[in-house]
Amino acid sequence: MKEASSNVDLKKIAAIKAADFVADGMRVGIGTGSTVAFFVEELANRIRDGLKVSALATSYQSRILCQAHGIPLMDTMFQSRLDIAVDGADEIDPQLNAIKGGGGAQTVEKIIASMADKFILIADESKLVDRLCMKFPLPVEVLPDGLSLAKERISALGGRPNLRMALRKDGPVITENGNFILDISFESAPLDLRDLDTKLNLIPGLVETGLFLGLAKKAVIGSADQVKILEARE
Ligand code: A5P
Repeated sequence: MKEASSNVDLKKIAAIKAADFVADGMRVGIGTGSTVAFFVEELANRIRDGLKVSALATSYQSRILCQAHGIPLMDTMFQSRLDIAVDGADEIDPQLNAIKGGGGAQTVEKIIASMADKFILIADESKLVDRLCMKFPLPVEVLPDGLSLAKERISALGGRPNLRMALRKDGPVITENGNFILDISFESAPLDLRDLDTKLNLIPGLVETGLFLGLAKKAVIGSADQVKILEARE
């Protein structure tokens, strides 16, 4: 599911640049994935140089990374507002809508992105696409008891749902919330992403989709020539 570890340097330069948007005293949401791992390292360097922040983590991966790097964590259950959140993406379109969930963490990632005054995507340039859902299948988190109903309803919406299977465990991937992931492919790109997202979210037992529509204000993109900062159109 996840891409191979090419573009590592581009992820790193994007992540380091994104740390410039974190100011002293900020409450910071920390996403999940290989790009975010570089952001955590850079934040830790800046904390050693005197920067003070407190953070919310979107997954066990990012909690463990933050703990290892001495980044102070708050309890997500008791927070509803952040100054900034920084996260990776699987696809980003020109409006900075994104697909997330390649690592299965999209539900808490979306909660934390929605708390933030500024949500910033970090990625290498291979994640930029003209239209979402053509290349990367759209992940949705589903309660195990809702599996068959969700598959039927998703098919009726024109998608092909695939139960994500674990690599070093027999059977499906189980999310950190105890659920399954369906990766949805489409024959042609859905024309109205907002409508698709609404319809998916209305399926009983479907917990959250990996569509992040209108959430990101900026994207920091590592490209072969330079780091590009893309702004969401208002
Ligand atoms: C985690 O569930 C995802 O949303 C990741 O943020 C996304 O897959 C990007 O991952 P990389 O930074 O590893 O490419």
